[in-house]
Amino acid sequence: MSADGAAEAAASGLVSEPRPHAPEIDIERAAGRGRPGAGEAPAAEEVLVLDFGGQYSQLIARRIRECGVFAELLPSDLDPDEIRARQPKALVLSGGPASVYEPGAPRFPEELLHLGIPILGICYGMQAMVLALGGRVEAAEAGEFGRTDLALRDGGGRLMADLPEEQSCWMSHRDSVFEPPPGFIALASSPGSPVAALEAPEKGLYGIQFHPEVVHTPYGTDILTRFLRDVAGCREHWSPASVVAQQVEAIRAQVGDGRVICGLSGGVDSSVAAMLVHRAIGEQLTCVFVDHGMMRMNEAEQVVEAFGGFGIPLVHVQAEDRFLSRLAGVDEPERKRMIIGEEFIRVFEEEARKIQDVGYLVQGTLYSDVIESGGGAGADTIKSHHNVGGLPDEFDFDLVEPLRMLFKDEVRRVGAELGLPDRLVWRQPFPGPGLAIRVVGGEVTRDRLDILRAADAILQEEIRAAGLYRRLWQSFCVLPVVRSVGVQGDGRTYAYPIVIRAVTSDDAMTADWARLPYDLLERVSNRIINEIRDVNRVALDISSKPPATIEWE
Ligand code: XMP
Repeated sequence: MSADGAAEAAASGLVSEPRPHAPEIDIERAAGRGRPGAGEAPAAEEVLVLDFGGQYSQLIARRIRECGVFAELLPSDLDPDEIRARQPKALVLSGGPASVYEPGAPRFPEELLHLGIPILGICYGMQAMVLALGGRVEAAEAGEFGRTDLALRDGGGRLMADLPEEQSCWMSHRDSVFEPPPGFIALASSPGSPVAALEAPEKGLYGIQFHPEVVHTPYGTDILTRFLRDVAGCREHWSPASVVAQQVEAIRAQVGDGRVICGLSGGVDSSVAAMLVHRAIGEQLTCVFVDHGMMRMNEAEQVVEAFGGFGIPLVHVQAEDRFLSRLAGVDEPERKRMIIGEEFIRVFEEEARKIQDVGYLVQGTLYSDVIESGGGAGADTIKSHHNVGGLPDEFDFDLVEPLRMLFKDEVRRVGAELGLPDRLVWRQPFPGPGLAIRVVGGEVTRDRLDILRAADAILQEEIRAAGLYRRLWQSFCVLPVVRSVGVQGDGRTYAYPIVIRAVTSDDAMTADWARLPYDLLERVSNRIINEIRDVNRVALDISSKPPATIEWE
């Protein structure tokens, strides 16, 4: 969830309190590497965000893109020659966890000053620049963390002109700037930061101590826009439509008249990747959808219908029996995962062999995966079987990764631009092994899957009707394989419980249980017990992660 989403969820009462949020990480798919043609940055204007290790570095890049300017996140020690070669319109130096005085703290690469490129330093990025240019940075008596009052000076200078003299901002620092370097003027102060913003416009250098990228800095976007548009002269050209046009060209150039396959999972990444590739090369693409029978109610049909509607060649492999027979007698979670993973690859492989002369495999690798695998600036092309976790060596596909430069929220926007139905564009993350890891403590059988699927469908329907679906990171049901006593009509029942699990999260690394409204819970509980014969009890999971995990297995 983005910082916006988090604040929205907080405002709706779904989470206990608002907090700033780290960037979203896609957890639906395994991380990919490689550097094919499709997915590369557009040749047009870009801003480079140099990462000093800050918690919000990805968010800075996302916010810049939201201003309509393409931004990439690269390491702070990137070779200045490479920076020069890329000819960025501006550089932004991120925050970071270190103190500028710590041994080994990342230093401000002074060569950057000689490139003639405007620079905006944020938090640590500003302090490193100030220290390098002869200003005074010291540990303040107390750090500043969270919402902080900011008072402008000198009308806010060029960077903050026309903004309110008194405003709030989001701070997260211990050291502060006490004196700007020669040639700079101070633009703002806060209780713990004598110089909370500064600039030297004739040198093209700007710095702010606070975080313009988090929603809790109300004028953050204005400041970023001012820097990008008025200082750096960026034009607004980055949009979902421009991504589509640029990727279509790149895919055509990469693939030529080659044949391409794409494994669909029903999730947003593989769906959008497939749509983009189909837009570029039409029927040279074949999609393979391995339906393992562990999907939610009607989801397989929705995938088949959506892709059929677009005329995309699709092989729909209905393999439920095959998966169920391999899962017979298995209740250990990791074995379930292993069996499903292996079987999945086997089925995919069989189908891929039936399609002649396939040269390329589409992967829904996202920008957050690229950053996390350290493959941003030129990792080598690798064989596809490393990516898909076990395709045999003779499949020597080249990868097509059209989402490689996109954050998750941009993937959704591109999906909407391509006409993908809302249901697919906004689908919550769903684990590869599907409902199999939500039948817990017992064997996965067709009956149990059917019960769970029916309960889950009721929960989804009610959550959507209440307008909460997009605000939740995930919402689903769990079927513990135990029975308890109940009474329905005049009879005693002995049936399964269903557990409701709904969480808010940014990235699935941590999660909070969602404070769903009582009337919604009541409706869901009544419907599940009334409509599903084998369920006589509904419970709510109120554990956060950690110490619990999101899934039960
Ligand atoms: P946990 O349960 O570890 O889950 O808090 C974190 C996120 O990962 C998803 N998840 C999986 N996704 N295969 C997947 O593709 C899996 O085996 C798997 N297990 C958990 C989970 O849904 C949550 O979003």
